Amino acid sequence: MRFFFFALLTAGLANPALADGYRRFEGHGGPIRGLSISPDGQHALTASFDNSIGYWSLEDDTARPVWLEAHEAAANVATFLPDGNHALSAGDDFDLILWSLDDGKPITTLEGHKGKVLDLSITTDGKLAASAGWDGAIGLWNLETREPIAMLKGHRAPVQAVRFSADGAYLYSASSDGTIRRWTVADHAFDRVEVSHGFGVNRLVINDKAGWFAYGALDGGVRIVNIDTGKEIADITSGRQPVLALVLSRDGNRIAIGDGEGFIHVVDTQTWRTIKDFRAVPRGPVWALAFGPKAQHIMAGTILDHADFWPVEGAASVSEADGPIRDFHRDPATMTNGERQFARKCSICHTLDGISGRRAGPTLHRIFGRKAGTLDGYQYSDALLGINLVWNDISLDKLFDLGPDHYTPGSKMPMQRIVKQEDRRDLIDYLRIATDGDDPQPGEKTE
Ligand code: HEC
Repeated sequence: MRFFFFALLTAGLANPALADGYRRFEGHGGPIRGLSISPDGQHALTASFDNSIGYWSLEDDTARPVWLEAHEAAANVATFLPDGNHALSAGDDFDLILWSLDDGKPITTLEGHKGKVLDLSITTDGKLAASAGWDGAIGLWNLETREPIAMLKGHRAPVQAVRFSADGAYLYSASSDGTIRRWTVADHAFDRVEVSHGFGVNRLVINDKAGWFAYGALDGGVRIVNIDTGKEIADITSGRQPVLALVLSRDGNRIAIGDGEGFIHVVDTQTWRTIKDFRAVPRGPVWALAFGPKAQHIMAGTILDHADFWPVEGAASVSEADGPIRDFHRDPATMTNGERQFARKCSICHTLDGISGRRAGPTLHRIFGRKAGTLDGYQYSDALLGINLVWNDISLDKLFDLGPDHYTPGSKMPMQRIVKQEDRRDLIDYLRIATDGDDPQPGEKTE
């Protein structure tokens, strides 16, 4: 097993309540991008930037999570099948993976997208799945035969969200092109444009019983629209942007919105009044939300490496002063430029100490003088395994001057360049000091 050494060290534990009804789910090594709670309300799935999916017990505080590991890049979304014994996940590796939750093993990988997969929806009978692709396509999949049915094309930009209607007859899709479209599932054909919002639409939920859908957009807009007439029923825009998460409680009576400014806004869908609006993270986005079984709790995935479980009623909020957790929550003004470069551009995927943790990339501990692709226990891409390169001032400078896609083509590290020469110099100066510890590296033999 790929991360077994690190998994042992960092195996997470669901912490007991910190405040009344508050819980924290720890163990991931990166932010949490997707969340889902099982139909019976007893389990949760967390999809993380660290490539893994956590499968957690909500009932048993002391139970360790099961880690589902097979994605080769950040996992963006994970959702339960209606039977509660299977999960479907998708990520930046363009793949969908179907899992057995009995043993935490992948059953099959569904391939077809040419870009990262951002969202999933499953029909209430569990037979079909739909996927939203950065490539502008919507994948339609048969979960019984585990085969692709069709790739629906028409959006002119990445598809951010997909939702089936309760009867499975229609599929709704939301895109960065600013539209929400409806498709007929039986003949997988484009049906009509539901909404032209102008700004990219990120999130979508459908309340079939009440006859409306709600969407959240890049400009912070949150609107409720009548499914039949296309008329706007309510506008619950808070002014914070962008909207990154939008969920509906099981009974349809509550809606929750997570935004780029770190707030969770819970709204009553009978009156469209705010039930609660609070800061859930000191700084940075709320990426994923899920209501607990009775909508008394809301689970949140944020820029931090753990998931929060907040009581909806009662006081709960964090202040700017709370939780320094990740490097880049330190006041940037107190950092040197090199440290700031690392915090902003690298720390999400790399640690500097001897342990890689559950991060997407290998630790950079003692990177100077290390041959590329040689850290024990880390699963490199073939590109990095095959490269003949030693990391030093010059090669690190080139890596971000040219970008990993040019300097180490085929690498799993996302393309990014650091354009300013002085930023690269400061970063390398910082790394030289910060990566030079005496602790043994993982996998390194100590006599
Ligand atoms: C989104 C995640 C991500 C970010 C951000 C990121 N990296 Fe990486 N990095 C990776 C991955 C994944 C690999 C392994 C690449 C492979 O196997 O192809 C890697 C590999 C590397 C390596 C080669 C390590 C080795 O053992 O050969 C270096 C050096 C490196 N990264 C430095 C950096 C620095 C410095 C930054 C910030 C400027 C950065 N990375 C930002 C994901 C990331």
